[in-house]
Amino acid sequence: MSEDQQKSRNLSNPSEFSDEEIVKSHVELAKFKHEPTKNFLKAPLVFVFVFGCLIFVCSIQLAHSTNSFQLHPPVDVVELTAEEKESMRLEKKISSGEKIFAARCASCHQANGMGIEGQFPPLAGSEWVSADAGVISNIILKGLKGEISVNGVKYGTSAAVNMAAVPISDREIANVSTYVRQAWGNDSVEVTEEFVSQVRSEHAAKQDQWVGDELRSMFSDSFGN
Ligand code: HEC
Repeated sequence: MSEDQQKSRNLSNPSEFSDEEIVKSHVELAKFKHEPTKNFLKAPLVFVFVFGCLIFVCSIQLAHSTNSFQLHPPVDVVELTAEEKESMRLEKKISSGEKIFAARCASCHQANGMGIEGQFPPLAGSEWVSADAGVISNIILKGLKGEISVNGVKYGTSAAVNMAAVPISDREIANVSTYVRQAWGNDSVEVTEEFVSQVRSEHAAKQDQWVGDELRSMFSDSFGN
């Protein structure tokens, strides 16, 4: 076979290339394996730069708009004046008293303190409430029976209408009395827990409910007439 014949046969049938020729042509091809990267590299660089600037500008914007946000802000030491502390204490006491009133008294005297005519006397505007704090404390501690006059209207005219002692602590009596003495337009000074415990021990031996006239004479100075 002549050399020419050999060439044409190889071209028409590639499988007949010799190993050496295949290696050679692969080496030749390997030179052009990668596309030229000359300008491609610039594009990602531009993106990195643009995003870098964006993040920079955004963080400046963020720092400006967080109102000096601090992860651990210093605790504000608010010094309350003695007056503010006192009014907060009284507010708490009265709101506790309001709850006790709703649970232990409102069923008879009603949430608005107006009572029910002919049955339960009103506490709003009552002189029994505004009299010496000993009066309301004693009534809650022992109860009350017999005829009384409240805001010019008679109550307790029948034995069936009376008030039993309300079994609550001195503190609760102080709170609820303070609430009653300052609600619905009433305007009398607060009742302290110490005062109530004093009243309790003073009459510890007493079994019966109070009668209106007893309290009236015990505290005659503090009733209007
Ligand atoms: C079961 C019903 C009932 C409950 C509960 C009750 N009371 Fe009374 N309360 C009466 C009655 C009835 C009288 C009037 C007794 C009388 O006429 O002798 C009265 C009288 C009074 C009086 C004197 C009269 C007046 O109107 O000012 C006061 C003060 C008073 N109660 C406060 C309270 C307080 C405070 C509570 C809750 C801790 C309470 N009561 C719970 C029925 C009740």
